[in-house]
Amino acid sequence: MLDASGVLMKSIQEAIRIERLSKTFNNGRKALDEIDLRVEAGEMVALIGASGSGKSTLLRHIAGFTPSDAQPSQISILGRPIQQNGRIVREVRSIRRDIGFVFQQFNLVNRLSVETNVLVGALARLAWWRRLTGLFPRAERALSMAALNEVGIGEHARERAANLSGGQQQRAALARALVQRARIVLADEPIASLDPESSRRVMDMLRTLNVEHQLTVLVSLHQVDIAMQYCPRTVALRRGKVVYDGPSAALSPALLKKLYGDDARELLDEAHDKTHDKTHIESHDGADANHALHNTVPTAAAQDSAPPSRRYAFALNPAHSN
Ligand SMILES: Nc1ncnc2c1ncn2[C@@H]1O[C@H](COP(=O)(O)OP(=O)(O)OP(=O)(O)O)[C@@H](O)[C@H]1O
Ligand SMILES: [Mg+2]
Repeated sequence: MLDASGVLMKSIQEAIRIERLSKTFNNGRKALDEIDLRVEAGEMVALIGASGSGKSTLLRHIAGFTPSDAQPSQISILGRPIQQNGRIVREVRSIRRDIGFVFQQFNLVNRLSVETNVLVGALARLAWWRRLTGLFPRAERALSMAALNEVGIGEHARERAANLSGGQQQRAALARALVQRARIVLADEPIASLDPESSRRVMDMLRTLNVEHQLTVLVSLHQVDIAMQYCPRTVALRRGKVVYDGPSAALSPALLKKLYGDDARELLDEAHDKTHDKTHIESHDGADANHALHNTVPTAAAQDSAPPSRRYAFALNPAHSN
């Protein structure tokens, strides 16, 4: 992958580059306002901001799910534009292969097993005939089990995704990113609906992906204390603008108050849980999940409807599952 010229190597150092990104929704609301942002490969960056500040909108633009306003602007992933001047590029699917998503509502296809959800990550890399037949090579299945074990939910591999707790679902999404061999993880409030222990596990896993697997991580968070604990750098949004981009350690209550005024309380108050209404990750089968997983899921759906004998070419090999 890195066998190109020095120039290409340099651009590949830059995991995410955003230039002059603005987004105005049809209702006239400007959700993103001239965002410029660069995330270097290997960084773990927190994206913070009060509710409605534009965190999800920004992540969705980076993923190429939403086109920006049609003014000169660009978002590049590992040196390749994913959208420009309000248009998502044609090669978006191939660019998305480098991105693992941990988005709150549409993480997994509930009716599929945990293992199949994780294997979905590998589909983009498999030959077309394997995708059509739903035959996962032994190596992919071993990789999938290794990833599930690594995130600590190997024993749930055969269960339906719907049966997992919120934290386990988030970890399955991280396992999928590993199997996909993503280079970047975009996580939108991955711990918003989790209890403290599950939150810690998910954040620890994100850190492992960052430190041990050298994935670049951009994670939106509500709690500044978590950002400080896990992310050396924080980007703070307010009303669609970047109001701070620097060391997380410098985000004192006084600075937050200066940046956010009364909204600072939402970011500081640990007891505050604006997401209690999201406590349960809802069932999102079909269209929503398709939307989230994009190019990979339609094949997964085919996988699901295939006769069981064709779904799994190989039985789990215990030698590979530990
Ligand atoms: N599809 C949409 N149509 C119109 N306005 C939208 C749409 N999506 C988001 N917005 C608006 O854009 C702004 C940013 O929303 P966004 O969801 O990105 O905020 P957020 O920082 O993720 O908030 P939260 O912490 O509550 O998740 C909000 O004012 C929101 O109402
Ligand atoms: Mg959001």
